[in-house]
Amino acid sequence: MSLAIFSILTMHKSWNKWCSLRRMIFAVVIGTCGVLIYLIWFGMNSDRDNVPRLLTQLIPAGHCTCQSSTSFQCADCLTCLASPPPVQPDHLATWSFQYGRDDQNLGLSQSQCQASFPGLFQDIQRGVKYWKSRGHIARDDLNTAPFEDGMARAIISNGELYVVAIKAKGNDHRRKILGTLGSIYRALSASSNRTSYPTIEFIFSIEDRVDDVDAASHPVWVLSRKASEESVILMPDFGYWSWAKSDIGPHGQVVQSIMAAESNLNFADKEQKLVWRGKLSFAPKLRRALLDIARDEPWNDVRELDWSKKANFLSMVDHCQYMFIGHVEGRAYSASLKYRQACRSVVVAHKLQYIQHHHYLLVSSGPEQNYVEVERDFSDLPERMDELLENLDKAERIANNSIKTFRERYLTPAAEACYWRALWEGWAEVSANVTRDVEQPPADRGLRYESFMLLDSSDMLKYSFGSEED
Ligand SMILES: *[C@@H]1O[C@H](CO)[C@@H](O)[C@H](O)[C@H]1NC(C)=O
Ligand SMILES: *[C@@H]1O[C@H](CO)[C@@H](O)[C@H](O)[C@H]1NC(C)=O
Ligand SMILES: *[C@@H]1O[C@H](CO)[C@@H](O)[C@H](O)[C@H]1NC(C)=O
Repeated sequence: MSLAIFSILTMHKSWNKWCSLRRMIFAVVIGTCGVLIYLIWFGMNSDRDNVPRLLTQLIPAGHCTCQSSTSFQCADCLTCLASPPPVQPDHLATWSFQYGRDDQNLGLSQSQCQASFPGLFQDIQRGVKYWKSRGHIARDDLNTAPFEDGMARAIISNGELYVVAIKAKGNDHRRKILGTLGSIYRALSASSNRTSYPTIEFIFSIEDRVDDVDAASHPVWVLSRKASEESVILMPDFGYWSWAKSDIGPHGQVVQSIMAAESNLNFADKEQKLVWRGKLSFAPKLRRALLDIARDEPWNDVRELDWSKKANFLSMVDHCQYMFIGHVEGRAYSASLKYRQACRSVVVAHKLQYIQHHHYLLVSSGPEQNYVEVERDFSDLPERMDELLENLDKAERIANNSIKTFRERYLTPAAEACYWRALWEGWAEVSANVTRDVEQPPADRGLRYESFMLLDSSDMLKYSFGSEED
């Protein structure tokens, strides 16, 4: 009897033990998961250099998963710059683009634009071809395109710009839309024959990515696209007009201060290091990989940037003190590339996933090489840096090519204005039906830009022509 009780008791006891063991295992598993989730969250959201390398490898790549990238074979366009184009109208026979004379000219004619900037209009031609193969853009295509925060709809008619609608979530959106409209207005005003452009109506987005505004498969002008996003067409970003962030200002003004700073700085006297500053949480896997791989290298000047504290802040101009400037994508394209390209330095970028309008001119090898391309995980960065540091002549040649190609040609105000006008012409070619049957004159469909920019900012945010009279 006592034996039976005893054995029941021990059974009970070991059962109890098992239960509490299970509870413990359960708690440990939950705890570990929690810690892991916290660590990964921390790794992805921290902006400081306080995440161990092991954890960097654990954090998911998120939007940067792609192993592929976009490279362009556009070296042809650059080599042919040296030789005059084959056929030219008589009055242009002796005309060719001259830096110092033409780079600030916003009013180059169409044939001067074509002669000056071969390769610049690639994405327009691509987009036009895409829509031609789909039977052109119909009014419905425009009307069914999403109209989300960060988008604007406008008309160009008889040389004037009309604003149809704006959707802005706050002032950042509003400013970027205003910058874009300003650029359009400027390129339009400068054209010697602006009234001869056909009427067009269009939608653009100033969001970083095509999927931010669900524009995939819709005809929308955007700032950057992935190779697979074929329905959209690239436009120059608002920063050429001016970027309000950290008072960066107009692109041309940044270029001027860079040139002043570089006027008594030879390439050979620049710091022999790779500089990069950026916010880590924008693309933690990509950006931390650079931070980690550069950490113990003698050429390392890669630092995280905490915008709230401004720790490690370097102005655009200060970047030019370095021979090598890193370029890393963020949650999409990084608008900083055009400032980095303003320095007579070597831009070192990973294989890029997001294309901007001037990326077709990037050349990663050969005599026209104008930047250095490394893998998306930066695994070959140390090797490439050693090569360059041992061959500073080559490095200087790449930097010189970058200046010749970008600062002195494809990223000039003249090129930007040419690009806008080529975009309108390409757009007119595939979207004639968008405006063909519209009977109301543009003044009944949109507000002239000159009046729109006088509105109170709060009235701009969700602007829709005609609705204010209701
Ligand atoms: C005038 O505008 C039209 C666009 O319709 C263009 O094709 C033509 O080449 C322009 N002329 C000049 C001098 O730019
Ligand atoms: C424009 O619309 C008309 C009438 O709907 C159609 O017949 C024509 O094919 C369209 N043109 C283009 C280029 O889409
Ligand atoms: C690069 O350009 C500078 C300024 O024009 C020039 O002095 C230098 O010789 C060039 N270097 C190379 C390697 O081409």
